[in-house]
Amino acid sequence: MTMRSNTKVSLFTMLVLSSFGSMDCQPFARSLLPEDQGLKTEKLTQLHFYFHDTISGPNITSIKVAEAPTTSSSETFFGSVYMADDPLTEGPDICSKLLGRAEGTFMSASQEEVAFLMVFNYVFLEGEFNGSTLSVLGRNAIFHGVREMPVIGGTGVFRFARGYAQARTYSVNLTSGNAVVEYNVYVFHY
Ligand SMILES: *[C@@H]1O[C@H](CO)[C@@H](O)[C@H](O)[C@H]1NC(C)=O
Ligand SMILES: *[C@@H]1O[C@H](CO)[C@@H](O)[C@H](O)[C@H]1NC(C)=O
Ligand SMILES: *[C@@H]1O[C@H](CO)[C@@H](O)[C@H](O)[C@H]1NC(C)=O
Repeated sequence: MTMRSNTKVSLFTMLVLSSFGSMDCQPFARSLLPEDQGLKTEKLTQLHFYFHDTISGPNITSIKVAEAPTTSSSETFFGSVYMADDPLTEGPDICSKLLGRAEGTFMSASQEEVAFLMVFNYVFLEGEFNGSTLSVLGRNAIFHGVREMPVIGGTGVFRFARGYAQARTYSVNLTSGNAVVEYNVYVFHY
Protein backbone atom coordinates (compact mmCIF):
# COMPACT_ATOMS: atom_id res chain seq x y z
CA MET A 1 0.00 0.00 0.00
CA THR A 2 2.67 2.44 1.10
CA MET A 3 4.79 1.59 -1.95
CA ARG A 4 1.84 2.08 -4.32
CA SER A 5 0.85 5.43 -2.89
CA ASN A 6 4.51 6.51 -2.95
CA THR A 7 4.63 5.56 -6.61
CA LYS A 8 1.45 7.57 -7.22
CA VAL A 9 2.93 10.55 -5.44
CA SER A 10 6.16 10.46 -7.44
CA LEU A 11 4.25 10.05 -10.74
CA PHE A 12 2.11 13.02 -9.75
CA THR A 13 5.23 15.00 -8.82
CA MET A 14 6.77 14.17 -12.19
CA LEU A 15 3.63 15.27 -14.02
CA VAL A 16 3.55 18.54 -12.08
CA LEU A 17 7.27 19.13 -12.68
CA SER A 18 6.98 18.34 -16.39
CA SER A 19 4.03 20.72 -16.77
CA PHE A 20 6.09 23.43 -15.06
CA GLY A 21 8.88 22.53 -17.46
CA SER A 22 6.66 22.99 -20.52
CA MET A 23 5.41 26.33 -19.15
CA ASP A 24 8.96 27.59 -19.49
CA CYS A 25 8.60 27.14 -23.25
CA GLN A 26 5.69 29.60 -23.56
CA PRO A 27 6.67 32.71 -25.45
CA PHE A 28 6.90 35.93 -23.47
CA ALA A 29 4.35 37.60 -25.76
CA ARG A 30 1.98 36.44 -28.47
CA SER A 31 -0.96 37.95 -30.37
CA LEU A 32 -4.44 36.69 -29.57
CA LEU A 33 -7.70 37.28 -31.39
CA PRO A 34 -10.18 38.96 -29.00
CA GLU A 35 -13.07 36.83 -30.43
CA ASP A 36 -11.17 33.64 -29.55
CA GLN A 37 -11.04 34.85 -25.94
CA GLY A 38 -14.81 35.34 -25.82
CA LEU A 39 -14.47 39.13 -26.21
CA LYS A 40 -17.08 39.89 -28.84
CA THR A 41 -19.45 42.74 -28.11
CA GLU A 42 -18.61 45.54 -25.75
CA LYS A 43 -21.48 46.41 -23.38
CA LEU A 44 -22.24 49.67 -21.62
CA THR A 45 -23.54 49.22 -18.06
CA GLN A 46 -24.81 51.85 -15.66
CA LEU A 47 -24.49 51.16 -11.94
CA HIS A 48 -26.32 53.18 -9.29
CA PHE A 49 -25.65 52.98 -5.56
CA TYR A 50 -25.05 54.99 -2.40
CA PHE A 51 -21.63 55.21 -0.75
CA HIS A 52 -21.57 55.61 3.04
CA ASP A 53 -18.45 57.24 4.45
CA THR A 54 -18.53 57.18 8.27
CA ILE A 55 -15.53 58.86 9.88
CA SER A 56 -16.93 59.23 13.40
CA GLY A 57 -19.47 57.57 15.68
CA PRO A 58 -19.77 53.93 16.77
CA ASN A 59 -19.44 52.29 13.34
CA ILE A 60 -16.49 53.95 11.67
CA THR A 61 -15.77 52.76 8.10
CA SER A 62 -13.14 55.34 7.23
CA ILE A 63 -10.09 56.20 9.37
CA LYS A 64 -7.34 58.77 9.16
CA VAL A 65 -4.04 56.88 8.96
CA ALA A 66 -1.60 59.77 8.39
CA GLU A 67 -1.29 63.50 8.13
CA ALA A 68 1.39 66.14 7.61
CA PRO A 69 2.65 68.29 10.50
CA THR A 70 0.83 71.20 8.79
CA THR A 71 -2.50 69.41 8.14
CA SER A 72 -4.20 70.72 11.29
CA SER A 73 -3.54 74.33 10.22
CA SER A 74 -4.67 73.70 6.62
CA GLU A 75 -8.19 74.82 5.66
CA THR A 76 -8.28 72.01 3.08
CA PHE A 77 -6.84 69.30 5.41
CA PHE A 78 -3.95 69.13 2.93
CA GLY A 79 -1.78 66.06 3.58
CA SER A 80 -4.34 63.93 5.43
CA VAL A 81 -4.65 60.30 4.35
CA TYR A 82 -7.68 58.11 5.04
CA MET A 83 -8.24 54.37 4.64
CA ALA A 84 -11.82 53.32 3.91
CA ASP A 85 -13.94 50.20 3.68
CA ASP A 86 -17.28 51.84 2.94
CA PRO A 87 -20.56 50.02 2.30
CA LEU A 88 -22.34 50.56 -1.05
CA THR A 89 -26.09 50.22 -0.73
CA GLU A 90 -29.13 50.26 -3.00
CA GLY A 91 -30.75 53.25 -1.29
CA PRO A 92 -29.54 56.22 0.75
CA ASP A 93 -30.49 54.43 4.00
CA ILE A 94 -27.56 52.46 5.45
CA CYS A 95 -30.02 49.65 6.21
CA SER A 96 -30.98 49.21 2.54
CA LYS A 97 -29.59 46.30 0.55
CA LEU A 98 -25.78 45.97 0.59
CA LEU A 99 -24.52 45.87 -3.03
CA GLY A 100 -20.80 46.00 -2.40
CA ARG A 101 -17.99 47.82 -0.68
CA ALA A 102 -15.59 50.59 -1.61
CA GLU A 103 -12.11 49.73 -0.36
CA GLY A 104 -9.36 52.25 -0.74
CA THR A 105 -7.67 55.42 0.31
CA PHE A 106 -8.42 59.08 -0.15
CA MET A 107 -5.95 61.86 0.45
CA SER A 108 -6.36 65.61 0.65
CA ALA A 109 -4.34 66.72 -2.36
CA SER A 110 -5.30 70.37 -2.92
CA GLN A 111 -4.34 73.53 -1.04
CA GLU A 112 -6.98 75.60 -2.87
CA GLU A 113 -10.15 73.65 -1.99
CA VAL A 114 -11.07 70.38 -0.32
CA ALA A 115 -10.25 67.88 -3.06
CA PHE A 116 -9.28 64.29 -2.49
CA LEU A 117 -7.18 61.97 -4.60
CA MET A 118 -9.40 58.86 -4.60
CA VAL A 119 -7.82 55.42 -5.06
CA PHE A 120 -10.60 52.84 -4.71
CA ASN A 121 -11.58 49.31 -5.61
CA TYR A 122 -15.34 48.76 -5.65
CA VAL A 123 -16.06 45.13 -4.78
CA PHE A 124 -19.56 44.08 -5.81
CA LEU A 125 -21.78 41.42 -4.22
CA GLU A 126 -24.90 41.59 -6.32
CA GLY A 127 -26.02 38.91 -8.84
CA GLU A 128 -23.83 38.55 -11.94
CA PHE A 129 -21.48 41.22 -10.53
CA ASN A 130 -20.76 39.27 -7.34
CA GLY A 131 -16.99 39.11 -6.83
CA SER A 132 -16.21 41.49 -9.69
CA THR A 133 -14.38 44.73 -9.02
CA LEU A 134 -13.92 48.15 -10.57
CA SER A 135 -10.89 50.35 -9.93
CA VAL A 136 -11.45 54.09 -9.70
CA LEU A 137 -8.72 56.71 -9.57
CA GLY A 138 -9.61 60.38 -9.67
CA ARG A 139 -10.14 63.79 -8.14
CA ASN A 140 -13.02 64.36 -5.74
CA ALA A 141 -13.64 68.03 -4.91
CA ILE A 142 -16.26 67.17 -2.31
CA PHE A 143 -18.09 70.52 -2.24
CA HIS A 144 -18.79 70.46 -5.99
CA GLY A 145 -22.27 69.33 -7.03
CA VAL A 146 -21.02 66.59 -9.37
CA ARG A 147 -17.56 65.05 -9.24
CA GLU A 148 -16.34 62.85 -12.05
CA MET A 149 -13.71 60.16 -11.64
CA PRO A 150 -12.29 57.76 -14.22
CA VAL A 151 -12.88 54.02 -13.99
CA ILE A 152 -9.48 52.71 -14.98
CA GLY A 153 -10.11 48.96 -15.02
CA GLY A 154 -11.83 45.99 -13.49
CA THR A 155 -11.91 42.26 -12.84
CA GLY A 156 -14.43 39.45 -13.35
CA VAL A 157 -17.32 40.65 -15.52
CA PHE A 158 -15.55 44.02 -15.58
CA ARG A 159 -12.32 42.82 -17.26
CA PHE A 160 -11.12 45.47 -19.72
CA ALA A 161 -13.45 48.02 -18.06
CA ARG A 162 -13.21 51.69 -18.85
CA GLY A 163 -15.63 54.44 -17.97
CA TYR A 164 -16.41 57.09 -15.42
CA ALA A 165 -18.13 57.52 -12.08
CA GLN A 166 -20.22 60.55 -11.11
CA ALA A 167 -20.57 61.32 -7.42
CA ARG A 168 -23.19 63.62 -5.87
CA THR A 169 -23.39 64.25 -2.12
CA TYR A 170 -26.76 63.04 -0.89
CA SER A 171 -26.30 64.13 2.72
CA VAL A 172 -23.45 65.23 4.91
CA ASN A 173 -23.20 65.95 8.61
CA LEU A 174 -20.70 68.79 8.89
CA THR A 175 -20.19 68.10 12.61
CA SER A 176 -19.35 64.40 12.34
CA GLY A 177 -18.03 64.53 8.78
CA ASN A 178 -20.14 61.48 7.88
CA ALA A 179 -21.48 61.52 4.34
CA VAL A 180 -23.77 59.60 2.02
CA VAL A 181 -22.83 59.98 -1.64
CA GLU A 182 -24.91 58.93 -4.64
CA TYR A 183 -22.90 57.27 -7.41
CA ASN A 184 -23.73 56.70 -11.06
CA VAL A 185 -21.07 54.66 -12.82
CA TYR A 186 -20.99 54.20 -16.60
CA VAL A 187 -18.69 51.43 -17.72
CA PHE A 188 -17.81 49.69 -20.98
CA HIS A 189 -16.91 46.01 -20.58
CA TYR A 190 -17.52 42.67 -22.33
C1 LIG B 1 -23.83 50.42 14.35
O1 LIG B 1 -23.89 49.05 13.95
C2 LIG B 1 -24.77 48.27 14.76
C3 LIG B 1 -24.63 46.84 14.32
O2 LIG B 1 -24.79 46.71 12.94
C4 LIG B 1 -26.19 48.82 14.62
O3 LIG B 1 -27.05 48.08 15.44
C5 LIG B 1 -26.21 50.27 15.02
O4 LIG B 1 -27.50 50.81 14.77
C6 LIG B 1 -25.19 51.07 14.23
N1 LIG B 1 -25.14 52.45 14.72
C7 LIG B 1 -25.16 53.50 13.92
C8 LIG B 1 -25.12 54.85 14.58
O5 LIG B 1 -25.21 53.40 12.70
C1 LIG C 1 -21.44 35.98 -3.78
O1 LIG C 1 -20.39 35.03 -3.90
C2 LIG C 1 -20.01 34.46 -2.64
C3 LIG C 1 -18.77 33.64 -2.87
O2 LIG C 1 -18.87 32.85 -4.02
C4 LIG C 1 -21.18 33.68 -2.09
O3 LIG C 1 -20.84 33.11 -0.85
C5 LIG C 1 -22.38 34.62 -1.91
O4 LIG C 1 -23.50 33.90 -1.48
C6 LIG C 1 -22.68 35.33 -3.22
N1 LIG C 1 -23.69 36.35 -2.98
C7 LIG C 1 -24.73 36.56 -3.77
C8 LIG C 1 -25.64 37.67 -3.40
O5 LIG C 1 -24.91 35.91 -4.78
C1 LIG D 1 -24.32 65.09 13.21
O1 LIG D 1 -23.23 64.58 13.95
C2 LIG D 1 -23.27 64.97 15.33
C3 LIG D 1 -21.94 64.50 15.94
O2 LIG D 1 -21.76 63.12 15.73
C4 LIG D 1 -24.49 64.37 15.98
O3 LIG D 1 -24.53 64.76 17.34
C5 LIG D 1 -25.74 64.88 15.25
O4 LIG D 1 -26.89 64.23 15.77
C6 LIG D 1 -25.65 64.58 13.76
N1 LIG D 1 -26.76 65.22 13.05
C7 LIG D 1 -27.61 64.56 12.30
C8 LIG D 1 -28.67 65.38 11.62
O5 LIG D 1 -27.53 63.35 12.12
